[in-house]
Amino acid sequence: MLKPTHIQGVAIEALAQEFGTPLYLYDGEKIVHQIQTLQTAFAAVPLRIKYATKALSSLSVLSLIRKAGAELDAVSLEEVKLGLLAGSSPAEIMYTPSGVSFAEIQEAVQIGVMVNVDSLPLLEKFGQTYGSTVPICIRLNPHILAGGNLKISVGHKESKFGISIEQLPQILELVQRYQIPVAGLHIHTGSDIYDAAVFLKGGKVLFEAAMQFPDLRFLDFGGGFKVAYSPEDTATDIPELGRIVSAAFLEFCEKYGRALELWIEPGKYLVSEAGYLIVQTTVVKETPTLHFVGVDSGLNHLIRPMMYDAYHDIYNLSNREGATAPYTVVGYICETDTLAAHRQLHTVKEGDFLVLKNAGAYGFTMASNYNARLRPAEVLVWEGKAHLIRKREQFEDLLRNQEMIQW
Ligand code: LLP
Repeated sequence: MLKPTHIQGVAIEALAQEFGTPLYLYDGEKIVHQIQTLQTAFAAVPLRIKYATKALSSLSVLSLIRKAGAELDAVSLEEVKLGLLAGSSPAEIMYTPSGVSFAEIQEAVQIGVMVNVDSLPLLEKFGQTYGSTVPICIRLNPHILAGGNLKISVGHKESKFGISIEQLPQILELVQRYQIPVAGLHIHTGSDIYDAAVFLKGGKVLFEAAMQFPDLRFLDFGGGFKVAYSPEDTATDIPELGRIVSAAFLEFCEKYGRALELWIEPGKYLVSEAGYLIVQTTVVKETPTLHFVGVDSGLNHLIRPMMYDAYHDIYNLSNREGATAPYTVVGYICETDTLAAHRQLHTVKEGDFLVLKNAGAYGFTMASNYNARLRPAEVLVWEGKAHLIRKREQFEDLLRNQEMIQW
């Protein structure tokens, strides 16, 4: 895999020196390129890209994504508000919560974002409260087991998400009873889905259900397009995906009798490869069995390896030639905290900068203050210039909101 030393001509090492480590670094051009690839692949249909905000929700990133023509899918009111602050209008944001209180739903309606309803009790309450006045989207659970990692597969029949497709009769009864305007149907089967056929299978579920809803405006196929994390990894073929899903969609619209919009909700596809986590080596420790490299970061900053056994490619930015050896790169957290196991790296010494790739999606947004560690700074490179978009946390940030009672 590529081991970049520069982003848009800016030296990564210079940024690590200037802003310190650990550092989240994003390539804005890559994000925009990904959006354009999707727009081209789906050019045959009226497409709306609803970026899954949870992947990376920093304001400047949201603003760039908006500039490139994508809209938002938000999982919390806080994400909705970040989207609004970054310039999106309520009409451009879909709110897809999972089992939240009705008070949150009411606030979302007040703000003017569309609610993606994910349970029958919520559908009923929504109908009782708003009747025919507020259009909604309905999240269906299509009962499709998708993707390689079960922890991130969410469209199967034992998943908490959405309303089971088998409960379609109950959905229709409630919609009828309260005259609820249903503007869209939604599915999302999971993350890291390589096979375009899975989206087609989901589409078939959507198409069949859609025939029961005469007033639809859109069908939402969710996100989950796979990007390559390891050298052996394959990525979803986006042009092929666009081709086959668009063809099936257009055929469906013909049958439906009206042109609808096709919505997708990529998270990883837009931001994963654009992001790098730069860390610095604090110790190189040889044991009788392993070569450990300790770095100034850990699962508090990038939890994916420990949480999902996710593979993140890693390379030594400071030493790019000569001998290599197998190293296990570990963080400083007081837990088993392996960022990368048994990786062939050019000889690592104390002070070397290492780069973890594919850190854009679910990196910073899943970071925490565990072990009372501070969260990293974020830098976005755009038009050949590095912008600090989030300052590194300081000790004072850990104290904010605390009330110390000295007993
Ligand atoms: N739409 C909905 C309703 C979602 O729940 C998600 C992700 C997406 C779209 C975007 O999926 P993507 O294109 O990013 O695969 N944190 C995990 C994955 C869980 C994602 C949760 N939902 C990870 O680091 O792999």
